[in-house]
Amino acid sequence: MTETSPPAENDRESVRLRRPEKRDAQSLWRLVCADETLDTNSCYLYLLQATEFADSCVVAELNDEIVGFATGFRPPTRPQSLFVWQVLVAPSARGMGLAKQMLLYLVEQGEAVQFIEATITPSNAPSRGLFASLASRLGAAIEYSRCFEPADFGASDHEAEELVRVGPI
Ligand SMILES: CC(C)(COP(=O)(O)OP(=O)(O)OC[C@H]1O[C@@H](n2cnc3c(N)ncnc32)[C@H](O)[C@@H]1OP(=O)(O)O)[C@@H](O)C(=O)NCCC(=O)NCCS
Repeated sequence: MTETSPPAENDRESVRLRRPEKRDAQSLWRLVCADETLDTNSCYLYLLQATEFADSCVVAELNDEIVGFATGFRPPTRPQSLFVWQVLVAPSARGMGLAKQMLLYLVEQGEAVQFIEATITPSNAPSRGLFASLASRLGAAIEYSRCFEPADFGASDHEAEELVRVGPI
């Protein structure tokens, strides 16, 4: 993995994208805990992602502080895909292109990535806008299909999650 800087940011000189390390897990966990959109997980999960899955994850630093991340994995049954599990940018750093740059980083750094996948709730307009913009940037198709229904989440009162698939790239 190499480090890259997004090309078109307001703070171009101080933004850095890199793969996560173990010491970053707490920052990722804190960002998620402070967000009202994403499901909260334990810090243990982010420790695993920052170590065992680091090759398919990225963090964005602004002035040496982690302000965003994207975590993902390569599904064993679909080796050409990179499944994005969570992507998050701190409210103070939104609208600068960071999320899109992080997804492009995962495409560029991953080996032979042909598809980017994720699940998105129908109400998450920012996430839908992000993946539409990514597809446009890559000149790739974007498809939505049913994935998890509210009933699949049992009593936890969760919206449906649709599978979004961008590619082939
Ligand atoms: C979704 C999220 C990661 C976007 O981060 P961001 O860094 O502000 O996004 P970017 O600046 O890279 O924008 C990328 C594209 O998404 C679109 N977008 C971003 N925010 C949007 C919004 N609120 N409504 C509609 N589209 C939006 C932009 O139009 C942009 O497209 P463009 O470059 O063609 O104009 C951020 O809003 C967030 O962290 N939300 C809470 C967590 C979440 O919902 N994550 C996604 C599900 S895992």
